[in-house]
Amino acid sequence: MPEPTSAKSPQSILVTGAAGFIASRVCALLQAEGREVTGLDSFNDAYDVRLKNWRWAELEKIKGITLHRMDLTDRAALRGLFEKQGETPFDAVVNLAARAGVRASVENPTVYVEANVGGALNLMELCREFGVRKFVLASTSSLYGKDHATPYREDMNTDRQLSPYAATKKAAEAMAYTYHFLYKLDVSVLRYFTVYGPAGRPDMTPLRFVQRIREGRTITVFGDGSQSRDFTYVDDIAKGTITALRPVGYEIFNLGSDEPLKLSEMIGLIEELVGRKAIIDYRPWHPADMMATWADITKARATLGWSPKTSFREGLGRLVAWYEENRDWASKIETD
Ligand SMILES: NC(=O)c1ccc[n+]([C@@H]2O[C@H](COP(=O)([O-])OP(=O)(O)OC[C@H]3O[C@@H](n4cnc5c(N)ncnc54)[C@H](O)[C@@H]3O)[C@@H](O)[C@H]2O)c1
Repeated sequence: MPEPTSAKSPQSILVTGAAGFIASRVCALLQAEGREVTGLDSFNDAYDVRLKNWRWAELEKIKGITLHRMDLTDRAALRGLFEKQGETPFDAVVNLAARAGVRASVENPTVYVEANVGGALNLMELCREFGVRKFVLASTSSLYGKDHATPYREDMNTDRQLSPYAATKKAAEAMAYTYHFLYKLDVSVLRYFTVYGPAGRPDMTPLRFVQRIREGRTITVFGDGSQSRDFTYVDDIAKGTITALRPVGYEIFNLGSDEPLKLSEMIGLIEELVGRKAIIDYRPWHPADMMATWADITKARATLGWSPKTSFREGLGRLVAWYEENRDWASKIETD
């Protein structure tokens, strides 16, 4: 494992998926550190676009972030963006754009392959061509499948994905290694564990359950609620992502809270914070879902000096406060 290095931090950074939940925070925090940030997003309709518009508008308020509406699968447009940098190419690319979500990938695997594998490949090719040295790739805890005891370590076998989504992330990890091997692209792969926070994803339980419990709507629970997730606060994840911009060769890091929580416990805490009881519709377990996720984060602590700082109660409190502030439109977000 490489030692932390004090090499100069990348200054000019391209962040993909900038209207997305995690990337929008990465852009804001990078800019706050004085880096030059370029963001892009395709604004696909994988979930309610009002959330992407809100995050994009927040970024537009910040001076010094350049934003482009662009699809990673549009090679010509993407190439134009790299070309426009002229004599000063990006120092790093942080690829967070993706089709995310496990169950939707079972319905429509093709778009997942196009964005998550094809899009990542387009970026790596341009890094090679334009001499960009650093590539950060968002990956997922879903890669660990169901054959391992928790907590998950980066050196566990990840050959058996349960969903097309996880399989595309595995493919992108493998392609990134190839670009590291052939072209010395410096790669940090980050396996995120169930990220939550303000303006989160409406296809994930934290925002969906906050909205639906607060508004007295039914929530659906697959299985009996005993499945557990290593819920990790979005700003902790964004800071870990920025920390991973340092040169490492090719390394994979889990970024998780290391404090897994049962879904039923999360529901109880939301009930307490919003002051209402949940109405629950229990449905059969989905085979593509994982029963538990839990990150062993020893490597990220040791190599990146990173550790999560936000307790689940504190982070969920911030999500609930954000929801209350934005309730006039957030109550209308599609969370079915
Ligand atoms: N949120 C989590 O819990 C979690 C967990 C593990 C991994 N991840 C990964 O982290 C990354 C960010 O996830 P997120 O939760 O912020 O998801 P998100 O869907 O909110 O953000 C992804 C963004 O990428 C954009 N995008 C998708 N395809 C694109 C394309 N072809 N070209 C340009 N833009 C495109 C989308 O419009 C979206 O705004 C993803 O790679 C995801 O797979 C997230």
